[in-house]
Amino acid sequence: MPGALAPWVLGMALRPFRPQDLRARVEGKLAVVTGASRGIGREVARRIAVSGATVVGLARDGAALDAVRAAAARAGGTIHPLLADLRATEAAIEAAKAMLAEWGVPDLVVSNAGHSIHRPVSQSWDRLHDFERLIRLHYLGPLALLAPLAARMRAGQIVSVTSAAIDWPVPNWSAYTASKAAFEAWLASAGPELGAQGVTVTSVHLPRVATSMSAPTAGRYLVPELTVSQAATVVCQVIAHPRRTASPWWARLGAGLNGAWPELGHQLWLRLLRSGLEP
Ligand SMILES: NC(=O)c1ccc[n+]([C@@H]2O[C@H](COP(=O)([O-])OP(=O)(O)OC[C@H]3O[C@@H](n4cnc5c(N)ncnc54)[C@H](OP(=O)(O)O)[C@@H]3O)[C@@H](O)[C@H]2O)c1
Repeated sequence: MPGALAPWVLGMALRPFRPQDLRARVEGKLAVVTGASRGIGREVARRIAVSGATVVGLARDGAALDAVRAAAARAGGTIHPLLADLRATEAAIEAAKAMLAEWGVPDLVVSNAGHSIHRPVSQSWDRLHDFERLIRLHYLGPLALLAPLAARMRAGQIVSVTSAAIDWPVPNWSAYTASKAAFEAWLASAGPELGAQGVTVTSVHLPRVATSMSAPTAGRYLVPELTVSQAATVVCQVIAHPRRTASPWWARLGAGLNGAWPELGHQLWLRLLRSGLEP
């Protein structure tokens, strides 16, 4: 199937992306993008930077961030590297303080850094550290980074790059899904409070995207993957035209069915697992 059709097949085709709409929203603004050293975050940071925003790109890999900064500079954009391991709450708080001291209060926070673990629970009972590091990376760390920033934001947008798996949980991804769902539940509850403060909250529920994260399970599922460029376009679309969530229609349908009829999804997966399927 031609890759250009993937956003339609995966239900992630929003309105056509117009770079001028992104520029109108971000030009002259300050943005922080976590997970900017590669994958979706790198491409989102690059696009925001060449649209005229000053971008602070956060990740652990300093050499990769330097390359991202240099590439943006060649295209006329500004990306400042900010090194931090978001699994360490203190490091996340220190990164936020450094950001405020060096560049000021951001207008846009793209919480994108992530890591996935594909592992059945039968192989997880002695690996509680998997659950701990993912809840730190996807919930406590982003929250620790966000807290000092959001406390000072009186306008702008917080964008969470999350997974459609939180709408329609899939077996073998439990640690990942639970950690992503924790931040989404927090945003759903805190979002109106932040909105009253003037800050828009957006969650992008992505289907599979061809990155280093999905590479270990590439080819496992009979569904196409978005390219990094297509996924970055979805993220940039919701920055250009803010909305509460962007998610595939089938994920919303799954969430609705799971909410109305939880037994359905449970029995479906149970049967598939008993038939030998390993999702
Ligand atoms: N790929 C998919 O199929 C898919 C599907 C749905 C949702 N998503 C979500 O999309 C987001 C981006 O994923 P991706 O596919 O672009 O992954 P990726 O290519 O593996 O990039 C992950 C990014 O997160 C950063 N990161 C990882 N651990 C970190 C840590 N402890 N502290 C700070 N930064 C850290 C990495 O930088 P360093 O290693 O340099 O720290 C890297 O920049 C994630 O939140 C993911 O859950 C991805």
